This record gives sequence, structure tokens and C-alpha cells, in this order.
Amino acid sequence: MTLDIWSETEDFLSGLLCPPDAGLERALRVSDEANLAPINVSALQGQQISLLARIVGARRILEVGSLGGYSALWLAKALPPDGRMVTIENNPVHAAVAIGNIRASGLADRVEVRVGNAADQLALLVEEKAAPFDFFFIDADQHNNVVYFESCLRLGRSGSVIVIDNAVRSGEVCNVENPNEAVRATQQVLDLVGSAEHVDGVVFQTVGKRGHDGMLVARIR
Ligand code: DHB
Ligand code: MG
Repeated sequence: MTLDIWSETEDFLSGLLCPPDAGLERALRVSDEANLAPINVSALQGQQISLLARIVGARRILEVGSLGGYSALWLAKALPPDGRMVTIENNPVHAAVAIGNIRASGLADRVEVRVGNAADQLALLVEEKAAPFDFFFIDADQHNNVVYFESCLRLGRSGSVIVIDNAVRSGEVCNVENPNEAVRATQQVLDLVGSAEHVDGVVFQTVGKRGHDGMLVARIR
């Protein structure tokens, strides 16, 4: 009953607030045809992160976990024409789908898909002395969220914003005895954000078609 009304409300809001976009619709269709797990952000969540990136004035965006490129498209839409985005994906099949979807949307000039282990790819970006990113979206294997978050801190600058998906997970996050490594890692990131001198953060709880969840939004001081 609750999920129904959450889902219905989300559809209503998406219908009004998320402009139709052939590239996004294609990305969902192709991801489904390629049997990718339907764990992409919803349209409303895509609009949420896209708008956040625009509010930040992001010119350089880094995403961890491309899946089929759906959230990458939402984020790339937030970039100015000379903006750049890197999205990291470990699974080559997912990466191929993402690359196809990004090309089909005409955004391939702005978005680079890096295929490989995210921790390694992030370390490589640090090594390459990549120009600082303004906005980060972490939505990958959650048990590695601490490593990803710490790398993003290194790859950001004062004012950069780091968003982490799935920070609430049906309220699982508040069970400190939870043995699930994904939950544990999120708790550690929350602890880090709450105690770090140089980071501010909050969790926006969400309900909708993905159930009860939330996004951690952190900003480097
Ligand atoms: C699930 C949802 C997500 O947003 C994600 O990143 C991973 C898994 C899920 O619903 O299982
Ligand atoms: Mg997610």
C-alpha cells in the first residue's frame, strides 16, 4: 500500500518535472534488452542529481558505476558544452551498453567511459593528476564506498559535491549491528562525513518506486 502511493506519486512528479528525452528512454530500453539489472536511478532521481550538478555549476563530473549509462546521461545533460565527465564501469558488458547509449544521445564528446575496477581507475586519476572534479556520483558496489568516497575527496576541491546513492536502504543503515558489508561501508562513510573537519553532509531520504532509500550529499569545505 505505501509502496503503491510512493510509486504513484513518483510517476506523477516525474510526469510533470522530467521532460521527455529520447536518449534517456532509449538508454532504459537498451539496458532492459541487454538484461541489465533494473537498478538504475529512477527518472526523478536522475533529475535530482542532474539539477544538483547544475546548482553546483559543475563543469567536470565523475561517476562511479555507469551500469547502462542512464544516470551518466542525466548528469551529462547538466554539463555546459565544454564540460567533461568521466564514468567508471567495471563490467565490460555494462560499459558497452553505456557507451552505446551515450553515443546515441550525442554526448560522446563530453563523456568518457573508463572500463575497469573503480578503485584502480580512481587511483589512476589521482596519479594522472586529473583536474579537480566539481561533482561526484557514487552508485556502484556499495561495500567499497569508503574507498570511493576517500578517492573522491582527493579528486575534488573546496566546494566539490559528492553524492552517494543507496545511503538508507529501507532504513537498514541505522542498524549498527548489521553485518552486511554494503551497509557497514555506508555507515563508515556517514561517520567519516559527520566527523571530518573538512566535509559537510546530509542524507536526503527518498521514497518512491525504489522503495525507501536516500542519497548522501556531501560538500568539501
Ligand atoms: C539496488 C539499487 C540501487 O540503486 C543500486 O545502486 C544497487 C542495487 C537494488 O535495488 O538492489
Ligand atoms: Mg544505486
